[in-house]
Amino acid sequence: MLIEPVAALDGHFAVPGDKSISHRALLLGAVGDGETRIHGFGRSADTLSTLDAVRALGAPVEDGDVITVEGVGLRGLASAELDCGNAGTLARLITGLLAFQDGEFRLTGDESLSSRPMTRVAEPLGRMGARIETTEGRLPLTVSGSTLTAIDYQLPVASAQVKSAILLAGLGAQGRTTVVEPIPTRDHTELMLRAAGVRVSRRPTSVSLDPPQRLRLGRVDVPGDFSSAAPFIVAATIVPESRITIHDVSLNPRRTGLLDVLERMGARVGVLRRQKLGEEPVGDLEVRAAQLTATTIEAPEVPLLIDELPLFGLLAAVARGTSRVRGAGELRHKESDRIEALVDALRAIGVRAKAQPDGFEVTGVPTRPRGGRIDARGDHRIAMLGAVAGVASREGVDVQGFESVGVSFPGFYDLLGQVTRS
Ligand code: S3P
Repeated sequence: MLIEPVAALDGHFAVPGDKSISHRALLLGAVGDGETRIHGFGRSADTLSTLDAVRALGAPVEDGDVITVEGVGLRGLASAELDCGNAGTLARLITGLLAFQDGEFRLTGDESLSSRPMTRVAEPLGRMGARIETTEGRLPLTVSGSTLTAIDYQLPVASAQVKSAILLAGLGAQGRTTVVEPIPTRDHTELMLRAAGVRVSRRPTSVSLDPPQRLRLGRVDVPGDFSSAAPFIVAATIVPESRITIHDVSLNPRRTGLLDVLERMGARVGVLRRQKLGEEPVGDLEVRAAQLTATTIEAPEVPLLIDELPLFGLLAAVARGTSRVRGAGELRHKESDRIEALVDALRAIGVRAKAQPDGFEVTGVPTRPRGGRIDARGDHRIAMLGAVAGVASREGVDVQGFESVGVSFPGFYDLLGQVTRS
C-alpha cells in the first residue's frame, strides 16, 4: 500500500472503542450473571477472536451496534478449542479464567502469536494449582480445569496481560490473590472487576482481590482507544499546518504516557471536556503541528506507552537532537520484534536509528523524512508507523503488509484519507 505525503491533517473525528477494554468486557461478561451490554465495542480482528472464543465457551453473544453477552456464571464455561488468532491479550487473559473451570481447553494462535511467550502466565498459574501444558513455553497450549489456591506474586516483567491472567484466576481461587507490580501497567482489569462488584484493593504497586460469589457488569461503555488515536496525534504533530480534534478518547493515565512525552518534546496537545465514562477517564484531544526536541524514555514510563513506542520513533526522527528509549526489552515479545522492526522501518525511510538490547536511539532532523519502503512484518503497530511516516514524508512510503492494521483498527486507512488534505 503506497501512502502518499499530505499537506496537512484537519477535522474532528472519533476512533474505535478501546481494544483492551473490549476484550475484558467480553471475557468478564461471559462469566458474569445475567446480560452484559457493551456500547462502543472496538471491533477488530483481535476483539472478534475474543467474541468467537466466548461463544465457543458457551456464552451466547448477540452482535450488533451494542454487543450483548449472556453470562454463564463464574464457573460455567464449557470445554472448547479456541483459536486466539493474533490476539496476545485473549491468549493470556483467558488462560487465567479457564484455569478453574470444569473442563478441558485447547488454545491455538496464528504464526506470530505461536512464537510469543506463554510461560509468563503458565508459570504463576501453575503455582496456583493450574494444570497447563504449553508447547515449549508457547501455543498450542492446553488447560485442564482444577482447584486453585491464591498466591502473592511479584511480576518479573511489567505486563498487564500477566497481571490480568493472575487476577482472573484469582476469581476462582481460595483466598486472597495479590499481584505486585514494581512498575505500574494498564489497570482496565482492576477497574472493570470493581465495576462488576468484586472487592479489589489497590496500593501504588500492588493489587489484591477476594474471590466473589458472582460478577455482574450490566452496561459497559467503551471509550475511544488511545492507541488508535495515537497515529493521528503523531501525524498532526509532525505534518506542518495540521490541526485536529479527536473526540471521546480514553485518557486513562496508565495509557497516555505518549502525552507526557509529547509535552516534553514541545508538542501542542490540549485536553478538553475531561470526564468519566463508567470507571474510565475520557476527553477530547486537540492537536496542532509543532517543532519537537529530543527526549529520553526510561523503564518506569515504558508501560504507559508500550504500544506507542514505534510511533515515538517517528517523533524522534523529526525532533532536534538524539532521543533514546531504555528498559523496553518487552518490545521484542510483541506481534513482531518491535525494536528491530521499528529501527529497520525508520532506516528504510532515511532516518538515523540504532537498535539496542532493551531499546533504541534515533537522531532526528527537523524536516520531513525522505520516504521509501517499510516492511510491517505482519505487525499492526509497525503498519501504522509506516502509514504515518508516509503522510509525513517527502516521497511517500510503500508499506508492505499494510493489511495487518485490521488487527486493531480496520477502518484506519479510510479515516486517514478523510482527515488529510493533499
Ligand atoms: C495489553 C497489554 C500490553 C499491550 C497489549 C494489550 C492488555 O501487553 O502491549 O497491546 O490489554 O492488557 P503487555 O501487558 O504484555 O505488555
